[in-house]
Amino acid sequence: MLDIAINTDQPAAEFYADLTSSAAALVDGEPDAIANMANIAALIWQYLPGLNWAGFYRVIDDELVLGPFQGKTACIRIAMGTGVCGTAAASGTVQRVADVHAFPGHIACDADSRSELVVPVLKNAKVIAVFDLDSPMPDHFRPEDAAGMAKLIGAIADSLG
Ligand code: SME
Repeated sequence: MLDIAINTDQPAAEFYADLTSSAAALVDGEPDAIANMANIAALIWQYLPGLNWAGFYRVIDDELVLGPFQGKTACIRIAMGTGVCGTAAASGTVQRVADVHAFPGHIACDADSRSELVVPVLKNAKVIAVFDLDSPMPDHFRPEDAAGMAKLIGAIADSLG
């Protein structure tokens, strides 16, 4: 296995550059999307502080279906356009939600979750999945987390579907 060590105590730009390089190295040469999603979820879970869930939902037959993740068991199916994940998938845009209780239609898989960041995974200009991060802390995700995570997912999206 790759020997990965990322300094979490550095500015966001450098941290996400290191995280993105490690993510790219992890998926390099591996064609299986599920295996790659599993390793990316584990990588982010290990290095991004303050999470209680990190993982993928895949778009299958116009619905989101639970994919590889780290954290507690979660809702299996989410309708497009519903909740934070469904909104990210339907709109193709990053959703950074400071207070999930204030988000219309938020789906509370884990009552501990207070803030959320969801990044759509686009391949050939189509949303094929979303990457969902939850935190038990309100307003946990900074704009630089949204930007950094969007770049990371964009860099490896071809290996995720
Ligand atoms: N809270 C999400 C559902 C997925 S779980 O948090 C793992 C949402 O509203 O889409």
